[in-house]
Amino acid sequence: MCVKMCLKVLLLFVFVSSVSPQGSGSGTDGKLRLCVVEGRGSYKRASKYCPVLEQSDSGVECVIGQDRLDCLRRMSKGAVDFGVFSPEDLIATQWADINVLVTDEVRQRPRKYASSIVAVINKSLLPELDTVSSVHSILKRSSMCHIGLGADERRPLSETLTEYLESLVTRKSCNETLSVAENRIKAMADMFGNSCRAGPWVLDASRDAELKALFPSLCAACDRPSKCDRHDRYWGPSGALTCLVEGAGNFTWAEADFVGGYFGSRTGVANTEDFAYLCRDGTWQEIHENKEPCVWLRRPWPLLVAKTKAAEEVSRLAANLTNAGVVVSGGWRGALTALLEANGALPAPLRPPSTPLDYLAGAGGFREAYSQAGCTPSRHIVMCTTSILEQNKCEWLSEAGAVYGVEPAVQCLRKEDREACMVAVKNGTCDVTVASGDWLVRAERDMSLIPILHETTPIINQSTTVVAYVREDSKLFKMADLKGTRAAFPSFDGLAWHSVLRYLANIEKNTCKDILKGFFKSICAPGTEKYLTDSKWMEGCVMEEGKVVGGEWGALRSLVEGKSDVAFLSMATYNQYVAKQIPEPWVKDIKIKPICAEDNENYCFLSWSNIGHVFAKKTTIMRRQEIVNVMTKLDQLFGKHNPNQASAVMFSLYGPYNHQNNILFHDNTKALSTSDVLRTHPFDKVPLNFERSLKDVDSCHVSDLTGAVGNVVPKLVLIVSMVSVLFL
Ligand SMILES: *[C@@H]1O[C@H](CO)[C@@H](O)[C@H](O)[C@H]1NC(C)=O
Ligand SMILES: *[C@@H]1O[C@H](CO)[C@@H](O)[C@H](O)[C@H]1NC(C)=O
Ligand SMILES: *[C@@H]1O[C@H](CO)[C@@H](O)[C@H](O)[C@H]1NC(C)=O
Ligand SMILES: *[C@@H]1O[C@H](CO)[C@@H](O)[C@H](O)[C@H]1NC(C)=O
Ligand SMILES: *[C@@H]1O[C@H](CO)[C@@H](O)[C@H](O)[C@H]1NC(C)=O
Ligand SMILES: *[C@@H]1O[C@H](CO)[C@@H](O)[C@H](O)[C@H]1NC(C)=O
Repeated sequence: MCVKMCLKVLLLFVFVSSVSPQGSGSGTDGKLRLCVVEGRGSYKRASKYCPVLEQSDSGVECVIGQDRLDCLRRMSKGAVDFGVFSPEDLIATQWADINVLVTDEVRQRPRKYASSIVAVINKSLLPELDTVSSVHSILKRSSMCHIGLGADERRPLSETLTEYLESLVTRKSCNETLSVAENRIKAMADMFGNSCRAGPWVLDASRDAELKALFPSLCAACDRPSKCDRHDRYWGPSGALTCLVEGAGNFTWAEADFVGGYFGSRTGVANTEDFAYLCRDGTWQEIHENKEPCVWLRRPWPLLVAKTKAAEEVSRLAANLTNAGVVVSGGWRGALTALLEANGALPAPLRPPSTPLDYLAGAGGFREAYSQAGCTPSRHIVMCTTSILEQNKCEWLSEAGAVYGVEPAVQCLRKEDREACMVAVKNGTCDVTVASGDWLVRAERDMSLIPILHETTPIINQSTTVVAYVREDSKLFKMADLKGTRAAFPSFDGLAWHSVLRYLANIEKNTCKDILKGFFKSICAPGTEKYLTDSKWMEGCVMEEGKVVGGEWGALRSLVEGKSDVAFLSMATYNQYVAKQIPEPWVKDIKIKPICAEDNENYCFLSWSNIGHVFAKKTTIMRRQEIVNVMTKLDQLFGKHNPNQASAVMFSLYGPYNHQNNILFHDNTKALSTSDVLRTHPFDKVPLNFERSLKDVDSCHVSDLTGAVGNVVPKLVLIVSMVSVLFL
């Protein structure tokens, strides 16, 4: 990974001039600036408590960050002074070379670490004689009760930490014909006997079922082996202990505090003396009365992290939160405690403040978990980007994903534009790129690329739409009235182009060629000039400096300026126009209206497609699964799956980046979904979906343009086949 160097460059790039401070804080009058991330739920911590903080003599002011990594970037720019971060964020600071100090632990419960993981075994696993053997030989072919998989806040361990624990007892599998996920599962299946590893192994449900059928032993010990899901009795932290105690398995990892509580409260159910703690070195310890068992892995609490220059003052501030050792609930101290998500507990100071690296070294296993060796040759998923901002966001995504153990790692490669990206995916320089619906036909037909995932939203009006718009004072009311009019499209060969021609061919019961020849009086479709020389094709187009103005705004302008009678645009562009959000000199007070598709009164549009698409080559099935697995995992971690999440997110995939909208992915996206989603509610109920109809409809070819309007001489006639996109 080019992680460290890339991020250094990247950080320099986004540096803005930092505020020169009066005091040691970077805010007004030297106030300390706290970076706060608002949760997604209705409970708005920042809007409730920041005003309290700012209207007092706390000496602290708030800055709202998009996500925790955004706060770290702001700290590295010097624009904020401190904030609360997870230990995983500290791993990212290390990669990004950000200079900060850890001043306090924000302990949400009275114990030293947020999580201390122990291994508990049924004593029948212990060697007969009192000899010490390796954990590998003790656990070989044992029955594992797994602590549980699946994105869930109740789960004590991230993917990286789970995988790290697994790697301590298994032998790595590096079969190149298998995906990373499958290799990981195979290593477990080779190591353990009948076990219960319930929960989703991968997020794509059909692939998950395939894998579970391939490795049935890892579900065999579950309560319902055929399901092996999150609803299993043996799923999760408490489920794993139940699995052990009921004799379904004989080994599990568990949270140390939890084990104490579990055996403490259930002495009647389980005989504590039948079980033991297994240590990493192969030795063991009795469970009962053992308050300090050997720990395999520790995860620190969230941490108060400050810019090096402000660390001393932040330490003082944290100390000031307590009044004679008692948490103060009211006033600015109460507000600050709430903003630090301390759950009413006191920050535990580090004396002196410590660098992230030194601090993490104190938590056994945590840092090692992030420097695990992968298989060689290492695998990557290279994402193609088209701007510096996209590239930067992609690189942070790559870091965030690596911290959470998403494998293979994402890498980012910048090209000059989307077309270059599509070509790069085609020739294997990149694996994926995100592009709009305008690419759907071209990608499949000319480049053999397919959309393996879609950026979806259940609010269909927010997806990509094509609607016919005319001037309000025109005598045009229904689709049939458009015959003989002058039409403007945003582009040739794009979504609107294919949608409209297909729609007309359908209702007119005619071929595409005849529609092109006879339906419209003239057509402006920017991009045709690449193929055709006849100027008739440019007639309705807006020209600027001898060039055709394309895109949604180009078509809209053609309508507004009276160069055409109908423009095929998205509802979003129309809404922008109506709301006067298009800052262009040609925008006038001319009212326009939609002409609805006859069979679609509810939505009006002629077609709709998902917001964007992740395009990849039709490569091997394994590679495709691998890409889908990685992208859906990133979506699960950094997307919008948990709308009520009150705590700060580390990274937001679908949100502004550096104050810019729709970078890399669209802000409106709710999830990345495979094409299966189109068969589910609400998508299956909405008519005129473009992706679905691609399958069986003959698309308009470039060759159809020949002779369509006047005597057109094609510069180039592409030999194109029927468009038949094979959906996954
Ligand atoms: C571990 O548990 C499994 C399932 O209960 C059992 O078949 C196996 O014999 C046990 N192994 C030992 C060494 O007790
Ligand atoms: C890799 O996995 C495939 C499919 O399971 C198998 O046929 C092959 O023998 C394995 N290769 C190695 C080197 O283990
Ligand atoms: C421990 O494992 C043995 C062998 O599998 C089993 O017979 C016994 O019931 C287990 N003990 C408990 C308390 O489940
Ligand atoms: C705590 O804050 C108050 C108000 O800002 C200040 O007057 C006081 O000196 C601080 N106390 C300590 C121990 O820093
Ligand atoms: C793909 O195209 C790029 C740029 O045109 C070229 O440098 C690269 O060698 C090509 N790669 C392959 C695998 O063909
Ligand atoms: C979608 O937008 C159209 C046109 O603006 C509107 O008439 C319709 O009510 C909207 N549908 C939904 C479900 O919001």
